[in-house]
Amino acid sequence: MSFSYHNSNNILPQRTIDPIGFGKVAIITGCASGIGLATTQLFLSHNYEVTGVDMHDIDYAKIDERDQGRFHFHKGDLIEPGECDEVVRICVAKYGRQKIDVLANIAGILDAYAAADVFTDREWERVLMVNLTVPTRMIRAVLPFMKANGGSIINVASKAAVSGAAAGVAYTASKHGLLGVTKNTAWRFHDEGIRCNAVLPGSLIDTGLGSTIEAANFDEASYGRQVPVHALQGPKASITPSEVANTILYLASDHAKSINGISLPIDRAWGVI
Ligand SMILES: NC(=O)c1ccc[n+]([C@@H]2O[C@H](COP(=O)([O-])OP(=O)(O)OC[C@H]3O[C@@H](n4cnc5c(N)ncnc54)[C@H](O)[C@@H]3O)[C@@H](O)[C@H]2O)c1
Repeated sequence: MSFSYHNSNNILPQRTIDPIGFGKVAIITGCASGIGLATTQLFLSHNYEVTGVDMHDIDYAKIDERDQGRFHFHKGDLIEPGECDEVVRICVAKYGRQKIDVLANIAGILDAYAAADVFTDREWERVLMVNLTVPTRMIRAVLPFMKANGGSIINVASKAAVSGAAAGVAYTASKHGLLGVTKNTAWRFHDEGIRCNAVLPGSLIDTGLGSTIEAANFDEASYGRQVPVHALQGPKASITPSEVANTILYLASDHAKSINGISLPIDRAWGVI
Protein backbone atom coordinates (compact mmCIF):
# COMPACT_ATOMS: atom_id res chain seq x y z
CA MET A 1 0.00 0.00 0.00
CA SER A 2 1.35 3.43 -0.86
CA PHE A 3 2.18 5.97 1.81
CA SER A 4 -0.73 8.01 3.10
CA TYR A 5 -0.56 10.52 5.89
CA HIS A 6 -4.30 10.02 6.27
CA ASN A 7 -3.82 6.48 7.59
CA SER A 8 -5.16 5.96 11.08
CA ASN A 9 -1.71 4.90 12.28
CA ASN A 10 -0.17 8.20 11.24
CA ILE A 11 0.21 11.12 13.63
CA LEU A 12 -1.29 13.56 11.13
CA PRO A 13 -5.08 13.96 11.13
CA GLN A 14 -7.55 11.94 9.13
CA ARG A 15 -8.87 13.26 5.79
CA THR A 16 -11.17 16.09 6.68
CA ILE A 17 -14.30 17.13 4.87
CA ASP A 18 -14.14 20.70 6.13
CA PRO A 19 -13.46 23.22 3.35
CA ILE A 20 -10.92 25.26 5.29
CA GLY A 21 -8.55 25.60 2.35
CA PHE A 22 -10.93 24.97 -0.52
CA GLY A 23 -10.16 27.40 -3.37
CA LYS A 24 -7.27 28.88 -1.40
CA VAL A 25 -3.67 29.19 -2.55
CA ALA A 26 -0.71 28.88 -0.19
CA ILE A 27 3.04 29.27 -0.55
CA ILE A 28 5.14 27.29 1.91
CA THR A 29 8.92 27.73 2.15
CA GLY A 30 11.15 24.96 3.47
CA CYS A 31 8.58 22.37 2.35
CA ALA A 32 10.96 19.42 1.96
CA SER A 33 11.70 18.75 5.62
CA GLY A 34 10.57 19.09 9.22
CA ILE A 35 7.95 21.72 10.02
CA GLY A 36 7.65 22.83 6.37
CA LEU A 37 6.91 19.29 5.19
CA ALA A 38 4.36 18.70 7.97
CA THR A 39 2.68 22.02 7.11
CA THR A 40 2.57 21.16 3.42
CA GLN A 41 0.97 17.79 4.16
CA LEU A 42 -1.57 19.35 6.52
CA PHE A 43 -2.54 22.20 4.19
CA LEU A 44 -2.97 19.76 1.31
CA SER A 45 -5.17 17.54 3.47
CA HIS A 46 -7.38 20.60 4.04
CA ASN A 47 -7.74 21.21 0.30
CA TYR A 48 -5.33 24.11 -0.14
CA GLU A 49 -3.48 24.47 -3.44
CA VAL A 50 0.14 24.62 -2.36
CA THR A 51 3.30 25.87 -4.01
CA GLY A 52 6.20 24.56 -1.95
CA VAL A 53 9.77 25.73 -2.30
CA ASP A 54 12.97 24.25 -0.94
CA MET A 55 16.65 24.17 -1.87
CA HIS A 56 16.63 20.39 -1.40
CA ASP A 57 14.58 17.83 -3.30
CA ILE A 58 11.26 16.76 -1.86
CA ASP A 59 10.35 13.09 -1.52
CA TYR A 60 7.07 12.90 -3.44
CA ALA A 61 6.24 9.64 -1.65
CA LYS A 62 5.55 11.85 1.37
CA ILE A 63 2.75 13.66 -0.47
CA ASP A 64 -0.51 11.72 -0.61
CA GLU A 65 -1.36 10.74 -4.18
CA ARG A 66 -4.79 12.34 -3.81
CA ASP A 67 -3.16 15.68 -3.04
CA GLN A 68 -0.42 15.74 -5.66
CA GLY A 69 -2.64 17.53 -8.21
CA ARG A 70 -2.88 20.49 -5.82
CA PHE A 71 0.84 20.55 -5.06
CA HIS A 72 3.57 22.22 -7.07
CA PHE A 73 7.19 21.89 -5.92
CA HIS A 74 9.81 24.44 -6.92
CA LYS A 75 13.45 23.66 -6.15
CA GLY A 76 15.38 26.83 -5.47
CA ASP A 77 17.73 28.56 -3.07
CA LEU A 78 15.76 31.50 -1.70
CA ILE A 79 18.86 33.56 -0.97
CA GLU A 80 19.57 33.91 -4.69
CA PRO A 81 18.68 37.35 -6.13
CA GLY A 82 15.15 37.37 -7.58
CA GLU A 83 14.31 33.88 -6.27
CA CYS A 84 11.55 35.01 -3.87
CA ASP A 85 9.82 36.94 -6.69
CA GLU A 86 10.24 33.91 -8.94
CA VAL A 87 8.42 31.63 -6.46
CA VAL A 88 5.46 33.99 -6.37
CA ARG A 89 5.46 34.31 -10.17
CA ILE A 90 5.42 30.51 -10.49
CA CYS A 91 2.58 30.17 -7.96
CA VAL A 92 0.38 32.75 -9.70
CA ALA A 93 1.05 31.18 -13.11
CA LYS A 94 0.41 27.64 -11.84
CA TYR A 95 -3.02 28.27 -10.36
CA GLY A 96 -4.05 30.97 -12.80
CA ARG A 97 -5.37 33.29 -10.11
CA GLN A 98 -4.19 36.77 -9.28
CA LYS A 99 -4.30 36.00 -5.56
CA ILE A 100 -2.34 34.28 -2.83
CA ASP A 101 -4.19 33.52 0.40
CA VAL A 102 -1.39 32.26 2.62
CA LEU A 103 2.36 32.62 2.93
CA ALA A 104 4.07 30.35 5.47
CA ASN A 105 7.68 31.47 5.90
CA ILE A 106 9.21 28.31 7.36
CA ALA A 107 12.65 27.80 5.74
CA GLY A 108 15.40 28.52 8.23
CA ILE A 109 18.85 27.52 9.41
CA LEU A 110 20.57 27.32 12.78
CA ASP A 111 23.83 28.99 13.72
CA ALA A 112 26.78 27.36 15.50
CA TYR A 113 25.73 28.86 18.85
CA ALA A 114 28.51 31.41 18.32
CA ALA A 115 28.32 34.39 20.69
CA ALA A 116 29.31 37.98 19.89
CA ASP A 117 32.99 37.34 20.68
CA VAL A 118 33.56 34.62 18.07
CA PHE A 119 30.86 34.68 15.37
CA THR A 120 32.12 34.70 11.79
CA ASP A 121 31.04 37.25 9.18
CA ARG A 122 30.09 34.36 6.92
CA GLU A 123 27.76 32.82 9.50
CA TRP A 124 26.18 36.16 10.38
CA GLU A 125 25.43 36.94 6.75
CA ARG A 126 24.14 33.45 5.96
CA VAL A 127 21.84 33.18 8.98
CA LEU A 128 20.48 36.74 8.72
CA MET A 129 19.90 36.24 5.00
CA VAL A 130 17.97 32.95 5.29
CA ASN A 131 16.07 33.67 8.52
CA LEU A 132 15.31 37.38 8.13
CA THR A 133 15.95 38.79 4.66
CA VAL A 134 14.33 35.91 2.76
CA PRO A 135 11.03 35.93 4.72
CA THR A 136 10.84 39.70 4.33
CA ARG A 137 11.45 39.45 0.59
CA MET A 138 8.77 36.75 0.39
CA ILE A 139 6.32 39.08 2.14
CA ARG A 140 7.17 41.89 -0.29
CA ALA A 141 6.60 39.52 -3.20
CA VAL A 142 3.18 38.21 -2.05
CA LEU A 143 1.66 41.49 -0.84
CA PRO A 144 0.49 42.65 -4.31
CA PHE A 145 -1.48 39.38 -4.54
CA MET A 146 -3.08 39.79 -1.10
CA LYS A 147 -4.23 43.38 -1.35
CA ALA A 148 -7.47 42.66 -3.25
CA ASN A 149 -8.75 39.71 -1.15
CA GLY A 150 -6.71 39.82 2.04
CA GLY A 151 -4.35 37.12 3.18
CA SER A 152 -2.52 35.51 6.05
CA ILE A 153 1.25 35.45 6.57
CA ILE A 154 2.78 33.17 9.19
CA ASN A 155 6.45 33.52 10.10
CA VAL A 156 8.12 30.66 11.93
CA ALA A 157 10.34 32.33 14.52
CA SER A 158 11.57 30.60 17.70
CA LYS A 159 11.91 30.91 21.45
CA ALA A 160 15.18 32.62 20.38
CA ALA A 161 13.01 35.50 19.10
CA VAL A 162 12.25 36.52 22.68
CA SER A 163 15.19 35.07 24.61
CA GLY A 164 18.94 35.65 24.69
CA ALA A 165 19.57 32.16 26.02
CA ALA A 166 18.36 29.86 23.25
CA ALA A 167 20.90 30.01 20.37
CA GLY A 168 23.89 31.94 19.03
CA VAL A 169 23.92 35.68 18.41
CA ALA A 170 23.15 35.41 14.68
CA TYR A 171 20.13 33.10 15.04
CA THR A 172 18.88 35.14 18.00
CA ALA A 173 19.17 38.43 16.09
CA SER A 174 17.53 36.93 13.00
CA LYS A 175 14.50 35.66 14.92
CA HIS A 176 14.16 38.85 16.99
CA GLY A 177 14.23 40.74 13.68
CA LEU A 178 11.54 38.49 12.25
CA LEU A 179 9.19 39.54 15.05
CA GLY A 180 9.78 43.17 14.09
CA VAL A 181 8.89 42.37 10.50
CA THR A 182 5.79 40.51 11.72
CA LYS A 183 4.51 43.43 13.81
CA ASN A 184 5.35 46.10 11.25
CA THR A 185 3.58 44.18 8.48
CA ALA A 186 0.56 43.41 10.67
CA TRP A 187 -0.04 47.06 11.50
CA ARG A 188 0.75 48.52 8.09
CA PHE A 189 -1.66 46.26 6.19
CA HIS A 190 -4.38 45.45 8.73
CA ASP A 191 -6.89 47.71 6.96
CA GLU A 192 -6.41 45.68 3.81
CA GLY A 193 -7.39 42.37 5.43
CA ILE A 194 -3.83 41.13 5.54
CA ARG A 195 -2.73 39.45 8.74
CA CYS A 196 0.83 38.67 9.78
CA ASN A 197 1.60 36.49 12.80
CA ALA A 198 4.57 34.56 14.15
CA VAL A 199 4.89 31.23 15.91
CA LEU A 200 7.65 30.53 18.43
CA PRO A 201 8.38 26.81 18.63
CA GLY A 202 10.43 25.45 21.52
CA SER A 203 13.69 23.75 20.83
CA LEU A 204 13.08 20.02 21.04
CA ILE A 205 11.58 19.39 17.63
CA ASP A 206 13.06 16.48 15.75
CA THR A 207 13.83 17.90 12.29
CA GLY A 208 16.80 18.42 10.00
CA LEU A 209 17.63 21.79 11.59
CA GLY A 210 20.62 20.49 13.59
CA SER A 211 22.36 19.48 10.36
CA THR A 212 22.58 23.15 9.33
CA ILE A 213 25.04 23.92 12.17
CA GLU A 214 28.55 24.68 10.88
CA ALA A 215 30.34 22.22 13.16
CA ALA A 216 33.78 23.75 12.57
CA ASN A 217 32.64 27.01 14.21
CA PHE A 218 30.64 25.46 17.07
CA ASP A 219 30.96 27.67 20.17
CA GLU A 220 31.22 25.24 23.09
CA ALA A 221 31.44 28.03 25.67
CA SER A 222 28.26 29.70 24.46
CA TYR A 223 26.41 26.38 24.13
CA GLY A 224 27.47 25.41 27.67
CA ARG A 225 25.78 28.55 29.03
CA GLN A 226 22.52 27.52 27.33
CA VAL A 227 22.32 23.85 28.23
CA PRO A 228 20.74 24.54 31.66
CA VAL A 229 18.15 26.83 30.04
CA HIS A 230 17.20 24.20 27.46
CA ALA A 231 17.05 21.58 30.23
CA LEU A 232 14.31 23.61 31.92
CA GLN A 233 11.96 22.41 29.18
CA GLY A 234 11.98 19.07 30.97
CA PRO A 235 12.15 15.52 29.62
CA LYS A 236 8.59 15.57 28.25
CA ALA A 237 8.86 18.83 26.34
CA SER A 238 9.27 17.34 22.90
CA ILE A 239 7.03 18.90 20.24
CA THR A 240 6.29 17.35 16.87
CA PRO A 241 6.45 19.18 13.51
CA SER A 242 2.75 18.42 13.03
CA GLU A 243 1.88 20.25 16.27
CA VAL A 244 3.56 23.35 14.88
CA ALA A 245 1.84 22.78 11.52
CA ASN A 246 -1.57 22.70 13.21
CA THR A 247 -0.92 26.09 14.78
CA ILE A 248 0.16 27.51 11.42
CA LEU A 249 -3.02 26.13 9.84
CA TYR A 250 -5.14 27.77 12.53
CA LEU A 251 -3.46 31.16 12.06
CA ALA A 252 -3.89 30.84 8.29
CA SER A 253 -7.59 30.08 8.58
CA ASP A 254 -10.59 32.35 8.99
CA HIS A 255 -10.93 30.97 12.55
CA ALA A 256 -8.09 33.37 13.39
CA LYS A 257 -9.41 36.32 11.40
CA SER A 258 -9.12 38.74 14.34
CA ILE A 259 -5.63 37.60 15.30
CA ASN A 260 -2.97 39.86 13.83
CA GLY A 261 0.56 40.73 14.87
CA ILE A 262 0.98 38.11 17.61
CA SER A 263 3.95 35.93 18.55
CA LEU A 264 2.55 32.60 19.68
CA PRO A 265 4.78 30.24 21.69
CA ILE A 266 4.48 26.48 21.01
CA ASP A 267 6.66 25.19 23.80
CA ARG A 268 4.69 23.64 26.67
CA ALA A 269 5.24 26.76 28.86
CA TRP A 270 9.02 27.09 28.32
CA GLY A 271 8.28 30.59 27.04
CA VAL A 272 7.10 31.80 30.43
CA ILE A 273 10.62 31.53 31.84
N1 LIG B 1 13.49 22.28 14.98
C1 LIG B 1 13.35 23.09 16.01
O1 LIG B 1 13.56 22.68 17.17
C2 LIG B 1 12.92 24.53 15.80
C3 LIG B 1 12.68 25.32 16.92
C4 LIG B 1 12.31 26.66 16.74
C5 LIG B 1 12.18 27.18 15.47
N2 LIG B 1 12.43 26.39 14.38
C6 LIG B 1 12.30 27.02 13.05
O2 LIG B 1 11.47 26.20 12.25
C7 LIG B 1 11.75 26.45 10.88
C8 LIG B 1 11.82 25.13 10.14
O3 LIG B 1 12.93 24.39 10.61
P1 LIG B 1 12.91 22.80 10.80
O4 LIG B 1 13.19 22.55 12.24
O5 LIG B 1 11.73 22.20 10.18
O6 LIG B 1 14.27 22.43 10.03
P2 LIG B 1 14.55 21.59 8.71
O7 LIG B 1 16.01 21.74 8.46
O8 LIG B 1 14.02 20.20 8.87
O9 LIG B 1 13.72 22.35 7.57
C9 LIG B 1 14.12 23.56 7.02
C10 LIG B 1 13.96 23.51 5.51
O10 LIG B 1 14.30 24.80 4.98
C11 LIG B 1 15.03 24.58 3.79
N3 LIG B 1 15.89 25.74 3.51
C12 LIG B 1 16.88 26.22 4.30
N4 LIG B 1 17.48 27.26 3.67
C13 LIG B 1 16.86 27.42 2.49
C14 LIG B 1 17.05 28.30 1.39
N5 LIG B 1 18.02 29.23 1.40
N6 LIG B 1 16.23 28.20 0.32
C15 LIG B 1 15.26 27.24 0.29
N7 LIG B 1 15.05 26.37 1.28
C16 LIG B 1 15.84 26.46 2.38
C17 LIG B 1 15.86 23.34 4.07
O11 LIG B 1 16.33 22.73 2.89
C18 LIG B 1 14.90 22.47 4.87
O12 LIG B 1 14.17 21.61 4.01
C19 LIG B 1 13.06 27.25 10.85
O13 LIG B 1 12.76 28.62 10.55
C20 LIG B 1 13.59 27.13 12.27
O14 LIG B 1 14.37 28.25 12.64
C21 LIG B 1 12.78 25.08 14.51
